[in-house]
Amino acid sequence: MKFKKKILGIGAGYVGGPSMVMIASKCPDYRVTVVDVNPERIAAWNSDRLPVYEPGLDAIVKKTRGRNLFFSTDVEAQIQDNDIIFVCVNTPTKTFGAGAGMAADLQYWEKTARQILENAKSPKIVIEKSTLPIKTAQAMERILSSGNKKITFDVLSNPEFMAEGTAVSDLENPDRVLIGSRETKSGLAARAQLVEIYTRWLPREKIITSNIWSAELSKLVANAFLAQRVSSINSISALCEKADADVSEVAHAVGTDSRIGSKFLKAGIGFGGSCFKKDILNLVYLCRFYGLPEVASYWESVVRINEYQQDRFIANILQSMFNTLAGKKICVLGFAFKADTGDTRESPAISITRKLLAERAEVVITDPQALANAAVDLAQEKGNIRYVEDPYEAARGCHALAVMTDWEEYRKLDYRKIYKSMVKPAFLFDGRNIVDRRKCFEIGFNVFSIGKPALTRY
Ligand code: UDX
Repeated sequence: MKFKKKILGIGAGYVGGPSMVMIASKCPDYRVTVVDVNPERIAAWNSDRLPVYEPGLDAIVKKTRGRNLFFSTDVEAQIQDNDIIFVCVNTPTKTFGAGAGMAADLQYWEKTARQILENAKSPKIVIEKSTLPIKTAQAMERILSSGNKKITFDVLSNPEFMAEGTAVSDLENPDRVLIGSRETKSGLAARAQLVEIYTRWLPREKIITSNIWSAELSKLVANAFLAQRVSSINSISALCEKADADVSEVAHAVGTDSRIGSKFLKAGIGFGGSCFKKDILNLVYLCRFYGLPEVASYWESVVRINEYQQDRFIANILQSMFNTLAGKKICVLGFAFKADTGDTRESPAISITRKLLAERAEVVITDPQALANAAVDLAQEKGNIRYVEDPYEAARGCHALAVMTDWEEYRKLDYRKIYKSMVKPAFLFDGRNIVDRRKCFEIGFNVFSIGKPALTRY
């Protein structure tokens, strides 16, 4: 079959995989290839067990794979053979050198830019899809124009806003798609080609076009604003606990103001995930770099409050359980950074478990999806950790339950049955405010929620 255009996604992870799958499904006359240097990951994309768990994704892959969607490890040949290249490689926070712990590690990204330059034999549109520090497009352009080839490369920024667990519906029906380009003749022409792809399934008004720097920055700012809302409500949860107010009631009252809105106002043990912390620290780093220390510390405080919320949670467990956890068994209910994913990156459960272990508690971890990742995250930890799939089994003989992930099934557990199998007095620390606290209190638990008065018997 002759395809109208040939599209390549470099990087078959959480962003590259699902977003390329969606393009293939919506544009059957375009050929979409996804490449990755990791052969196991590509083999998984070619198998029945995809490396990314997203509801609805399997069905779309089955429909498109082999038709106009292909997965390959041959990065160089595919660069040569494709016209439009989405760069979706990961850009984790640097762990070494200048900006360690803050700036984005751009080594994979730069390697990709150089590979594109080396292997291109015809004009390419190169699209930044991974979240990157602002002005990366400029560096990309510099690399791409550093050779002596007479090939034009147009660099665009098209950041991805999908969230994990809802990737398919977010991609199918996003609030908006953002496309930034240079405002030159060739930049605008490249922009039009990308707009054309998205208009296959989205109304034109949902596609925002802008200059390239605005597009790059908007991604960081969107995540920073979302995280800031979570930290704002979490900071208020601390006050609620002191003032006998209920943070859910406050969030509801505040969020019904249409200027504020109700989303991302759920108090809990803090945000996790691969994006929020990374993107804010990146923003902070950029502000410092550009000589804006006040702006940097404003955004840094969003991350500090997130850490404070986790410290508070542990301090409360310790204090409520008579200031000692040594030898006590704590059941950690949920390890994923949010429900409906097996992803544990930056999950608050990691730092909280470490702190429980530091207090010499015995930790039993349960999670419907994330146990394998939890075991990797905690591989270096000394102490007594067990991983148990069945939550009832995990809770048996424990002194306390600590809810870390808002899994729907944890709302519906038979807490009476669980209570009976636990050591008394039994404690329930609900880090996600999902259990029926009054009912659990009536059953016999001492119940501690986030931002609500504790329900205790002493
Ligand atoms: C986020 C952005 O939503 C998405 O647009 C971007 O592309 C990537 O980063 P994701 O990390 O998948 O997506 O998760 P999200 O659903 O945003 O949740 C992030 C964290 O915030 C989770 O740990 C979640 O539990 C927490 N959260 C969210 C709260 O604690 N309270 C809330 O009200 C909302």
